[in-house]
Amino acid sequence: MKIIFIGPPGSGKGTQAKRLASRFAIPHISTGDMLREAVQDGTELGRQAQPIMAAGGLVSDDLMIGIIKERLAKPDAGRGFILDGFPRTIVQAEKLDGIVGNGTEPLRVLQLLVPDDAIVRRITMRRTCAQCGAIYHLENNPPANDSVCDRCGAEVIARSDDTEEAVRKRLESFHRQTMPVASYYESKNILRKVDGIGPVDEVFERIEKSLA
Ligand code: AP5
Repeated sequence: MKIIFIGPPGSGKGTQAKRLASRFAIPHISTGDMLREAVQDGTELGRQAQPIMAAGGLVSDDLMIGIIKERLAKPDAGRGFILDGFPRTIVQAEKLDGIVGNGTEPLRVLQLLVPDDAIVRRITMRRTCAQCGAIYHLENNPPANDSVCDRCGAEVIARSDDTEEAVRKRLESFHRQTMPVASYYESKNILRKVDGIGPVDEVFERIEKSLA
C-alpha cells in the first residue's frame, strides 16, 4: 500500500493515518512530525523550519523533497507507506512521481473533505503529546488524565502553529498550493474523496471502504 493523505489542516490526516498505518503495518510518514522533531532537536533543519511553521507558511520544496527522498529510501518503506502532509505543492508531487514512479504498487491518494468552518474548532481544541505525537481533542477525545498522554505519560500540549492567525494562513496555503495537487491526482484517476465529517471511527470505515 502506498497511500497519500491530502486534506486541510485539522481535517484528521494524522488521526486517520496513524490508524491506517497500524492496520496495514506500514510506516506513517508525517512531514509535519518530522519537522517538529527537528525543531525539538534544534537541528539546522529545525532552525530553518521553525519560524515558517509558526507563521503557517510552507517550508521550501527543496528541503522537503530531500527529507522525503531520504525517508522513503529506508527499508521499512519498501513494503509501503502512508504519506501525511506530502506532497503539498505541484513541484513536490512531480518529484514524488520520480522517487516512487518505478514501483509496481500504484499510489492511492485519499482526500479528506472537511469544510473550513469546522477546521478552526478542531484545531483550537487539539492537544498533542510532546513525546509520542498522540493526538487528542478536548471535547471528542480528551486524555483520561487532564494534560497527561494516555499512551506514554508525557505532557499533552497545544501546538505552537495552532493559533487562529496561523490556522488561517495554513488554510489559505492549502487552497492555493495543495488543492492543485488534489486536481493533479484526480487527472491521473487515483484520487478518492472521503467525507471527513463525523465520528473518527466512521471516517475510518469510509477510508477502508474507499481503499477496498
Ligand atoms: P502538518 O503537521 O502536516 O499540519 P497540517 O497539514 O496543517 O495538518 P494538521 O496536523 O494540523 O492536521 P491533521 O489533518 O493531521 O488533523 P489531526 O488528525 O491532528 O504540518 C505542519 C507545518 O509543517 C505546515 O504548516 C508547514 O509549515 C510544514 N510542512 C509540513 N509538510 C510540509 C511540506 N510537504 N511542504 C512544506 N511545508 C510542510 O486532527 C485535528 C484535530 O481534530 C485533533 O484534535 C483531532 O482529535 C480532531 N479530529 C480528528 N478527526 C476528527 C473527527 N472525525 N471529528 C472531530 N474531530 C476530529
